[in-house]
Formats: sequence, structure tokens, C-alpha cells
Amino acid sequence: MSEVPPLDLPDIQGLVTTGYAHMPHSRFLFLAVADRTGAKAWLKNLVPEISTSGRRASKEKPQTAVNIAFTARGLAQFGMTPEDVSTFPREYQQGMDCGDRSRVLGDTGDSAPSQWEVGGPTTGELHVLLLLYAISEHGLQTLSDRLWESISTGSGLTEVFRQDSFKHSINEPFGFRDGISQPAIEGGHGVVTPGQSVLKAGEFILGYVNEYSVLPPMPSVDAKLPGSDLLPLSAVNGSRREFGRNGTFLVWRKLSQDVEAFWEFMDSQTRGTDGTSDKDKQIALASKMVGRWPSGAPLTLAPLHDDPQLGANAERNNDFKFIANCDAEGFACPVDSHIRRTNPRDTLPPDPKKSNVVSERHRLLRRGRPYIQTIPDGKKEEGILFMALNSDLQRQFEFVQQTWMNSPKFNGLFNNKDPLVSDNDGTGCMIIQDKPVRICIQGMPRFVQVKGGGYFFLPGIIALQFLTHE
Ligand code: HEM
Repeated sequence: MSEVPPLDLPDIQGLVTTGYAHMPHSRFLFLAVADRTGAKAWLKNLVPEISTSGRRASKEKPQTAVNIAFTARGLAQFGMTPEDVSTFPREYQQGMDCGDRSRVLGDTGDSAPSQWEVGGPTTGELHVLLLLYAISEHGLQTLSDRLWESISTGSGLTEVFRQDSFKHSINEPFGFRDGISQPAIEGGHGVVTPGQSVLKAGEFILGYVNEYSVLPPMPSVDAKLPGSDLLPLSAVNGSRREFGRNGTFLVWRKLSQDVEAFWEFMDSQTRGTDGTSDKDKQIALASKMVGRWPSGAPLTLAPLHDDPQLGANAERNNDFKFIANCDAEGFACPVDSHIRRTNPRDTLPPDPKKSNVVSERHRLLRRGRPYIQTIPDGKKEEGILFMALNSDLQRQFEFVQQTWMNSPKFNGLFNNKDPLVSDNDGTGCMIIQDKPVRICIQGMPRFVQVKGGGYFFLPGIIALQFLTHE
């Protein structure tokens, strides 16, 4: 067996190897560069503060964390030439708000970029995303104030948008346990739990072999540029240096969840013939949409009712496939459900073995956080700040969203989209496999609206140092 090259952990930003679960408070600051020299000087001071994956080696858990990511326009603002930016994949260069990407992602109607509050065509150009995490509210405020002072005193950067998050629960706003199924990175630290896939590092970090046994395309810079000698020489072109090594792509999306409409819909679909509501039936229907019960217990392993012990047990709650666990037809976990669409495991044609291989080529490292805020009419708005890391935006994030979640023809279905999160418009249905006949829930509405977002690149530490060079 060939040896797996060790991950260069000190050069990899912390978010790649941890979701900072012990830090429930976070703030996302979206910045624009007004003056390159000032911005470079600011970044130079910030680099030593950036949390790296290397720091995890120490037993003591940090109290705060800082990570940084850039849009393609942001990299240009930091002095990257158009030629260098063009070495990045097209979808990243275009940005999430571009028409092509909106079509792929189903960002239409109320979810179109023209309606967004951040990252849209009229909401101010985004260049830098600063991700701040802390174990306490006070800790976050102190960190944020200190960094804000450095930003507001002649840094050449301005704030475009800020979003706070407090993870007060293990459940997402609809009420289901979130953050269970997550791939592990080969050669990374951390304990692998039963059922967890261990994937080649190149699925999530540039510079390493991926699940196709090849290196992902490497963004590079001209080797003649001042400061570029910090970066490793390109293995394929001696006149270029590898800017992307140890970096990855970050998808950031503000997804607002209509919790009231979601549960009203469950109620309307499950009322008895005499018009009475049945909470258990509502939860059972919603669980069919997710593919797990509120506790996180997978329907495939707990088909009839919730099993909170199973849901909370990390040794068991992700240790399943569908066909291998006698759920080929979807009688327990519907083919249409969110988890079966976002990770079909062994259910794609032509056979389970090949299906497992294909499914593993479209995985995401999810790093989402919940948000809640009061909107102008005094109402409460809540949702998820969806964040996902992947080394190939198109093959991973966009594929999952377009070909699996938003496709009406997913895996033998014909008029269905992901019932939980998709661009449903009230005309489609949800099919629940059942005996003697399947159940069809008509008129599926859209429960999740996109409020903003962007594609970012989370560079390695050495690449950040290169960006600070004048
Ligand atoms: C507001 C929006 C969303 C909600 C409420 C939501 C909720 C959930 C829940 C409850 C789970 C099961 C627990 C877990 O394994 O973590 C889950 C799993 C998952 N979700 Fe979502 N999700 C949302 C958006 C998305 C989006 C936009 C994507 C990708 C484009 C996505 C991809 C996934 C994946 C890959 C899994 C794991 C599937 C598995 O391996 O079993 N989710 N989500």
C-alpha cells in the first residue's frame, strides 16, 4: 500500500479540520478592500493570529479562533494579476451571485441574488470574509473589538456586512439534530466513528491526492512575482508557484428557514378525518423528509419511532447504508429524503459497490451555524449559515445541490425535489415509499430561502504570507 503523505497541519487553516464545536459564539465579518497597501499591512499583522490545524495538536482547547477567506475579486484586490486569478476554477471566479451559478443552484424568485442582503449584485462587493469564533459572548466581543479596531484604523478595509451566530442547540431550527454525518480526512487527527467515511485529503485540501487518485487543479502565481519564492514551485510548470496548496474552497450561504410554515404544512398534511391535529404524525412526516428523527436517529435503523439513545450515540447514529441495511426501496428512509439525496450511499445505479464510490466523490465538510434575528416587522427570523468546505465547488457543493437536491428526476423519481431544502415552488410532490401503495404529498412549498452568500477561498498560511508582500 502506498504511504499517505502527511498533512501539513500548521499550514492548513483550523476550520478545515474542526468546526470549533466547543465555541458556540461566532461572527462573520464581510469586508471590502479600499486601499491595497493598507489591507496588505493589516493582513500581515493578522496572519500570526490565524488559527491553524497544527494548533489542535496541543491538548488545551483554544478560547477563540480566527480564520480568513477571500473571493476571487478579493484576491485581485490584494494584488493577484488577472492571469493568476484565472488559474482558479470558473465557478469561483464567477462568484455565487452570477447568473450561471444561480441557475445551477436554483437561486430564483425570492432567493435570487437580486433579493440578497449580502453577496448580491446591489449589496456591495465582497472581498474578505473574517470568521471569528469564541467560547463565550464576552470572548467573541473582545476578539471582535480588537480586530475591529485594527480594521477601522487605516487598514484600507471597510465592513460590508456582519452576521452573528450563537449555537444554542444541537438541533437546527426545524428541530432536527444537525452535524451528524461528516466525512473524515485521511491522515487527519480525530477519532473515526463507525460508518464514517475516511476520504482522501484531496477532496478537501488542495495539494493532496483526491478520490480519483489525482491531484486537484492547483491555483498558481507567476514565479517571478516578489514574495512568490515563499510558495512551492509548481510540479507541472516551472514558471509558476502553487498558491492553492493547503487551501480549500468555502461555500457560505445564509439560509432562512420558515419554521412556522414548515410545521403548518406537516399539520395540514396529517390532520385526521375529523380535522384534529396529531403532533406525532407531524413529526413522523417531517422525519420522512429529513431521513432522520429529531434526535438524529436514522429512519433506516429506527423505521417506526424515534430512538433518542440511538440518535445521541455517535458510535451508532451514522453506521448504516440503505441497501446494506435492508432499505433498498426506501420503505424506512424515503428515496426523496434530504439525507438520502445529499448522500445516497449505496443506492445509485448500477450497483451498491459502485454507488458507494460515486457517493464519496460528492461529499462536503459541513461547518454550518444557526442564526436568529429580529427583522424589521418585529418578527423572528431564523435559519442556518450554511458553510461547506470542498476542493471542487462544481463536483462537490454544486453537484449535490443541482443534481441530487434540486433534481426532480433524482434516482428514479419523477416530480420531486429535496422536500426540506430545494427550489420547490408548490407544484412538485414528495413520494413516500409505503405498503400497500406509496404516499404522495402534493404541492411541496419552498421552506428555505436564500438570503445571501458567496464562494470564498481559504488559503494556506504561507499563501496568506505571500498575499501580504508588497
Ligand atoms: C436550512 C437548510 C438545511 C437544513 C435545515 C438541513 C438539515 C439537515 C439535517 C437535519 C441533516 C441530518 C443530520 C446530519 O447528518 O447532520 C442534514 C444532513 C446533511 N445535509 Fe443538510 N440541511 C440544510 C441544507 C443543506 C444544504 C444546502 C446542503 C448541501 C448543498 C446539505 C447537505 C447535507 C449533507 C451532505 C448531509 C449529510 C447526509 C448524510 O451523509 O447522511 N444540507 N441536513
